[in-house]
Amino acid sequence: MKFFIDTANLDQIREAQALGILDGVTTNPSLMAKEGITGRDNIINHYREICSIVDGDVSAEVIATDFEGMIKEGEELAALDPQIVVKLPMIGDGVKACKYFADKGVKINMTLVFSPGQALLAAKAGATYVSPFIGRLDDVSTDGLGLISEIRLIFDNYGYETEILAASVRHTMHIIDCAKIGADVMTGPLSAISGLLKHPLTDIGLAKFLEDHKKGN
Ligand code: G3P
Repeated sequence: MKFFIDTANLDQIREAQALGILDGVTTNPSLMAKEGITGRDNIINHYREICSIVDGDVSAEVIATDFEGMIKEGEELAALDPQIVVKLPMIGDGVKACKYFADKGVKINMTLVFSPGQALLAAKAGATYVSPFIGRLDDVSTDGLGLISEIRLIFDNYGYETEILAASVRHTMHIIDCAKIGADVMTGPLSAISGLLKHPLTDIGLAKFLEDHKKGN
C-alpha cells in the first residue's frame, strides 16, 4: 500500500519523508490556501519545493473547469517536474482531459470521486489514480469505506490498472480499513499516519526493557 500525505505543509511533508515511509504527496486548492500559498507563481514554486523534498508522485490540481483550460494548465503543471501527477475534477470535461493526457503518457489523478460509476469512467479514461473521498462521504452518513470496496470489486473484475487512492482519510482506522479492503494508496494527514505508530504496550514494554537493562548493569 502506498502512503501519500495530504497536505501542502512543507514541515509535515519533511517529517513524513524523514520517517522513510512516504510514497508521495497530494494537494488541492484548499490545502494550498491553508498554507497561505496564493498566486500562480507562488503555487508553482511550492509544487517545485514539494517535489524536491519527496521522491514519489506529487498531485497538482488544475483550477480550470473547461477542457481547453484543463489541458493548458495540466500541461504547464506536468512540465514542472516528472513527479507531477495532474489532478483533474470528476466532471465531463475532466474525463475528456484525462483521456487526452493518458494518451500522451501524463499521469492523472481524478479527484472528487463519490460513486463507483465515476470511478469506472476514470478507469476507462486511463487515469493513473482515482480518488474517492471517504471522509466526506462519512460526513453525510454514507459509507465511505463501502465505496472503496465497490471500486475494488469493479476494478478487479476487469483488471483495470487505475490505482484506488483513498482520499479524505481522516484518521488512523481509515488507513487500516483501506488496507484491509485493498486500496492501492491512501492519502491522509500526518496525524493519521503517525497514529499507526502508537501502542501503549510498546511504550510500557520499552520502558521495562530499559529499566531492566539499567538494573543488570
Ligand atoms: O485531497 C483531497 C481530500 O483528501 C480532502 O480531504 O479532509 O478535506 O475531506 P478532506
